[in-house]
Amino acid sequence: MPTPKLSGTEVEPNISHPQWAHEALGDLVISKDALRERVEELGELITTEYRGRPPLLVGVLKGASFFMSDLARVIKLPIEMDFMAVASYGSATRSSGVVRIVKDLDVDLTERHVVVVEDIVDSGLTLAYLQRYLQARKPASVEVCALLVKQGQQRAPLELKYVGFTIPAQFVVGYGLDVDEKYRNLNGIWCLKNKADQ
Ligand code: IMP
Ligand code: MG
Repeated sequence: MPTPKLSGTEVEPNISHPQWAHEALGDLVISKDALRERVEELGELITTEYRGRPPLLVGVLKGASFFMSDLARVIKLPIEMDFMAVASYGSATRSSGVVRIVKDLDVDLTERHVVVVEDIVDSGLTLAYLQRYLQARKPASVEVCALLVKQGQQRAPLELKYVGFTIPAQFVVGYGLDVDEKYRNLNGIWCLKNKADQ
């Protein structure tokens, strides 16, 4: 297919924005290439540390789904995968820490090495709840692999074994992360456009 030509007025000022999301996005926070590189590094770490005891990856829907599927493919062990879905009571952008399990695990955790795969840790309350919930099912171990951690926001003591990136405390979308269910399908991670700039 020939590449469509853009006229002067249609050229985007920030060409890294995909055109279809241009209205919503501010600065790029993590590029597609940086994501790929870091996910590969995390996969290598997990491969080394879990050799001989392949883990069960537990992805937290829906945000972690892209990260989970990329991470799973760079771990060179016969891992298993399962998913949970949780809903946090409270406002859309602030977690209350009171979590409702919307979809539970399908597999038994007894004596399993579990790695919880999460998209982003903000207050940390969701993850703290999940860790307690999973520990109660007598796994051999539970560790966390979080793609993003928002700097200085955590309100619960958490041990995060694997972290992709620490980012400033701003709302981000893309690579699984949404605002009102949209923009999960961006390849990179962007912050939202400032209301003042619109
Ligand atoms: P926490 O309980 O405050 O750590 O909230 C964690 C959950 O809130 C994440 O798993 C996300 O689903 C959501 N969340 C927190 N910050 C963001 C963000 O910047 N963009 C999209 N979702 C977010
Ligand atoms: Mg999440």
